Amino acid sequence: MSPALRFVVGLVLGLALLTWGAFVLVQTTTREWIEKDVRLRAELAVAGARQALSVNWRSDRSTELREILTDITRDDRIMAAAACDSDFYRLAQTAGFPPRFNCDWIADQVRNLANPTVPASWHQTESLPGGPVMVSAMPVPDSDLILGFVVLVHDLSFAARRETSTRQFILLAFAFLAVAASMTTIIVARLTSRSWSEEIRRLARGEAPRGPEFRPILRDVRELVERMMVEKETESEGGAWTPQRLKSTLTRHLHGERVVIVANREPYIHERQPDGSIKVVHPASGLVTALEPVMQACSGVWIAHGGGSADRDTVDRNDRISVPPGENTYFVRRVWLEKEEERGYYYGFSNEGLWPLCHIADARPTFNTEDWQQYQAVNRKFADAVCAEVDSEDPIILVQDYHFALLPRLIRERLPRATVISFWHIPWPNSERFGICPWRRELLEGMLGSSIIGFHTQIHCNNFFDSVDRFLETRIDREQNAVVQHGRATLVRSYPISLEWPVRWVKSIPSAAECRAGVLNELGLPTDALLGVGVDRLDYTKGVEERLLAVERLLERHPEFLGRFRFVQLAAPSRTLIERYRRLNETVELVAARINERFGKNGYKPILLFRSHHEPSNIFRFYRAADLCYVSSLHDGMNLVAKEFVAARDDDRGVLILSQFTGAARELTEALIVNPYDLEEASSALAGALTMTPNEQRERMRSMRAYLAEFNVYRWAGRMLVDAARIRRRERLSGRISERLSPAASA
Ligand code: F6P
Repeated sequence: MSPALRFVVGLVLGLALLTWGAFVLVQTTTREWIEKDVRLRAELAVAGARQALSVNWRSDRSTELREILTDITRDDRIMAAAACDSDFYRLAQTAGFPPRFNCDWIADQVRNLANPTVPASWHQTESLPGGPVMVSAMPVPDSDLILGFVVLVHDLSFAARRETSTRQFILLAFAFLAVAASMTTIIVARLTSRSWSEEIRRLARGEAPRGPEFRPILRDVRELVERMMVEKETESEGGAWTPQRLKSTLTRHLHGERVVIVANREPYIHERQPDGSIKVVHPASGLVTALEPVMQACSGVWIAHGGGSADRDTVDRNDRISVPPGENTYFVRRVWLEKEEERGYYYGFSNEGLWPLCHIADARPTFNTEDWQQYQAVNRKFADAVCAEVDSEDPIILVQDYHFALLPRLIRERLPRATVISFWHIPWPNSERFGICPWRRELLEGMLGSSIIGFHTQIHCNNFFDSVDRFLETRIDREQNAVVQHGRATLVRSYPISLEWPVRWVKSIPSAAECRAGVLNELGLPTDALLGVGVDRLDYTKGVEERLLAVERLLERHPEFLGRFRFVQLAAPSRTLIERYRRLNETVELVAARINERFGKNGYKPILLFRSHHEPSNIFRFYRAADLCYVSSLHDGMNLVAKEFVAARDDDRGVLILSQFTGAARELTEALIVNPYDLEEASSALAGALTMTPNEQRERMRSMRAYLAEFNVYRWAGRMLVDAARIRRRERLSGRISERLSPAASA
């Protein structure tokens, strides 16, 4: 039953009950009135005839008495009358007097009264075949004596008739009332719902509500509409996130706006070779691995530091180059940095200050004013490049990483309507540690110029909120996960980064079996060799030293692997101008050499360290050839090597051993999760991986692959863009509303 029908039925039932009550009340009251009226008339009639009655009150005057009684019955409500003496002997009666009510019957009734000695009028309703009657016996006094009684029989059928017509009238009134009330209700409901739907339509269209009663629900309705739109989009697009879906999300939600990415590292580096030729290099960077496919899907421009030795020779006069080579789907805009700028901004403030500040890896951050000044200057330089590249007043700008903490505010100052999404690829420390930085307030203020700030994990979002709470005067909206400052909100959300799916390198290299055969052959190893792999920039946060020590512990505890197991470490030198990194290079070399010396025999070397840059296609060959991959980061925002290893294994084989201190460990739960500092646990995991049955490997690998197929980088970018679109819609709406509410202010 529809709610409207239910309401009407309820209303009618309620009215029926009310009517029945009214009817019973009216009937009882009317009857009482009628009976009272009849009694009064009877008494009046007898009182009027009392003189004549007492004169003729004798049995020999029955004819006169009958005439007097007949006179009394002229009242058309009095049907018949009789006179009974004080001994209840009948003296006279009118014609047609019902014999049932004779003087004997009256005597019985009167005697039954509580006090028969006190004669008073007596009345009783009785029923005759013709209808109800009232019988009254009224004393006829004469001085102090009672001569007898006049008995009157009143016709009450008129009362029944009156009751019937009252009932009919009430029923009619009820029916009319029910129809009128239902109609009125329906009309009022219609009118109200029309005005409600009109108001809600206005709200959904982003117009200001007319009625003040709608203002409190304004935000709720908008959020609902937006959520429904997103859900509808997601439903209609359905399935997995792909480059096409990301593209169409951009078109639908952001009207195909051109995306501008700002990242320190460029996706393609042009390096001059000793023979004078130019080589395109793919940098060892998780950030680039993740963002490049997004850029290919969305097109637009990637603004980065042009650090390659042939970078200047390959750009056009606007410092741009179209990439990927041969495909030309988007532009790289190169920003040139002087040596001292690079030294202060990149090596200094970013990598000797912020990098160790944000990672728990036993490294002390160094902050100095000169580096800070360069950091500010380079952020301003990139802000100039952004403003030169955008082609609207409200562009979408994706600011990447810790190199550009100040950039969001600099952009906001020049492009107040821009949508700035900042993504912090490394961990965010707890507020106490963050407080070490002398320019902590400036960094936070800079970042809060963003519309959205993204981290890989919720823990880092929480740490960020705590830092803001501790060092700035803002309002933290925990319900919306936002920081509100000067009336502007910055959303702080976790968006775990991922890879394109499938990863392009997987398509361009041979099958796992062929890769294995090729790699073993290259390394001069027998076909039954057991192979582990590690792939990293040589960075102290990656736990490379701890990894090699875990291999050493494995060989100590499990000599059965001696001569059979080898660990290949592909290590790309990184940030080598920094002393801490140079020392790391040396340490890793020394540890590898020591272990090889300790366990090496007849050409067997357990550690194969390749300290050089490796192109992705080669790295993927090693992933595919290996029995296990060990990611031992001491602290890592996400770590995409772990995801790359899983992506490479379309043969569903191989075991991933993963540090619990990576963001990836929260997602790839089928990996063997270890504490890299705990060499017993790590070496047990290595042994476990080397003896794991193919079935278990398959089960774990399939589950992780299914996860990555769904939670790929298109989804990562898509979620941020959809959130950005929501913010843009909201800002546009509130812009329109505030314009409407105070046109003068906006004029
Ligand atoms: O982890 C932070 C990060 O920016 C990564 O995104 C990237 O893998 C790495 O640092 C690259 O470092 P660099 O550009 O300094 O070589």
